[in-house]
Amino acid sequence: MSEVVTDRDKEYEVREQESAPDADQAMDERVNNRSLRPRSEAFKEFMRSGWADDDPDIAPLEASKFTPARLEALGRAFVGERLVIPAGQPKVRSNDCDYMFRPDTTFAYYTGLGTDYEAGAVLVLNPLDPNGPEAKAGKTHMPELFVAPRADNSTTDFFTNPHYGEYWVGPRAGLREMQAMTGIETHDIAQLADALSKDVGTQAGAVRVRVVRETDPEITALVENVRKANGLGDPDGNAADDDKLHEFAAEARLTKDAYEIGEMRKTITATKAGFDRLLSALPDALDKPRSERILEGAFNSVSRELGNAVGYDSIIASGPHAPILHWMRNTGCVKSGDLLLVDAGVEVDSLYTADITRTFPTNGKFTDLQKRLYQAVLDSQQAGFEAAKVGATYCDIHHACMRVIAERLHDWGLLPVSVEEALSPEGQQHRRWLACGVAHHLGLDVHDCAQARFEAYQGAPIRPGMIFTIEPGLYFREDDMLIPPEFRGIGIRIEDDVLMGENGPEWLSASIPKEIDAVEAWMAEHAQA
Ligand code: GLY
Ligand code: MN
Ligand code: MN
Repeated sequence: MSEVVTDRDKEYEVREQESAPDADQAMDERVNNRSLRPRSEAFKEFMRSGWADDDPDIAPLEASKFTPARLEALGRAFVGERLVIPAGQPKVRSNDCDYMFRPDTTFAYYTGLGTDYEAGAVLVLNPLDPNGPEAKAGKTHMPELFVAPRADNSTTDFFTNPHYGEYWVGPRAGLREMQAMTGIETHDIAQLADALSKDVGTQAGAVRVRVVRETDPEITALVENVRKANGLGDPDGNAADDDKLHEFAAEARLTKDAYEIGEMRKTITATKAGFDRLLSALPDALDKPRSERILEGAFNSVSRELGNAVGYDSIIASGPHAPILHWMRNTGCVKSGDLLLVDAGVEVDSLYTADITRTFPTNGKFTDLQKRLYQAVLDSQQAGFEAAKVGATYCDIHHACMRVIAERLHDWGLLPVSVEEALSPEGQQHRRWLACGVAHHLGLDVHDCAQARFEAYQGAPIRPGMIFTIEPGLYFREDDMLIPPEFRGIGIRIEDDVLMGENGPEWLSASIPKEIDAVEAWMAEHAQA
């Protein structure tokens, strides 16, 4: 990962003197003071020779059959405009070490690329000449992918650049590979600046540019400079135009195509395997210090084996941590007899993720009180599922889930008002114990389509092809003096992923047990394994 310095290295030159190209300069400054890299011409010459041909075999991605339709829909919404969709840059973890790179979701959706493809790349949709033959055939744009060439064993970067030299990081995809994988024409990233400014202007027929501006500040600045240099330097207006591009891309993902539905099924299979391994680790972890972390490790190991990573930081919340909605520190001790809330999902290599929550009795059997509270959440979730019909809205799911929760809280004597008063906009007292939302879109992002307008999301009729969670819960904080002592420190959430079909909803995660008897049987099976 980093260069190891030994006494023998001292015969090599101590500091690199040459100035680096812009993108690498900051990095070189961060490592130069400890670099003892050999720099003799003889060494370089030697390193450039004697390697076997290393052209990788690259097959088209399955997603590349689906991206043309996505790109065409995007193009039709922005006829005559250049659209710029960056992959983003790695985030520095410390000094010269970066976090694992994950491409931006909009880029992944329109290129079909997953895993860590490809930091610094930029997808550009170039508007076609409206009088040209392609436009007459109904095409609006030519997609082009700008990427860095490979630093393979024919280059000096191969052994000198620890960030993308293939001696350091292994084989990468360059222009030829990216084109073969995506089916999109590729160009050297060095040509991007010229390509972005071509024909931009204010006159009739000139090109305007929009960028997904949050992803890569360098690309956004490049686009802003191009606009300013061509009489389009209105920052607020430009930002609003850019947001419309991001919004369109989010709303395009509200319904999933057949490939995406297949990937979502894979995420659920992998997530089930993660829960299986966690349950196998549970009996030994019980009552050990930081055993939430033991279980986190069990789930996360499956996410790396079967997928790209976890789709979001796993929540492993036992006992009084469970009512803490975003408990991700996972440092607690999982105690025998408590409830354990696990909210986790595997992100597969295409970057689609599941989002599943199960709540377990840590010693394998629910107590009567735990059953009563758990069943209320399960009933609420089922009510939400029954409300999820083609043409219904997210708000309908929300209200159905909330009604059951309010009724149960009332039955237990916790609501200070009637059920109807609590459910009214002026009441909402039941939300003390369920403050978060109970449904969201799911896909490439765990909270997918977040840039969609309210009227396209919460307020929109549910359509076939939509995938979303239903995840009611009850969260009784340890410090809540308005509930009986035996309720305090209990948190329950049951979260499943739903695909809306032509004829109604399908639990995509039906293979992951959740009924009381089924959870106990599932735990018993793994306790013995
Ligand atoms: N895991 C995040 C959520 O349930 O929304
Ligand atoms: Mn969720
Ligand atoms: Mn979740």
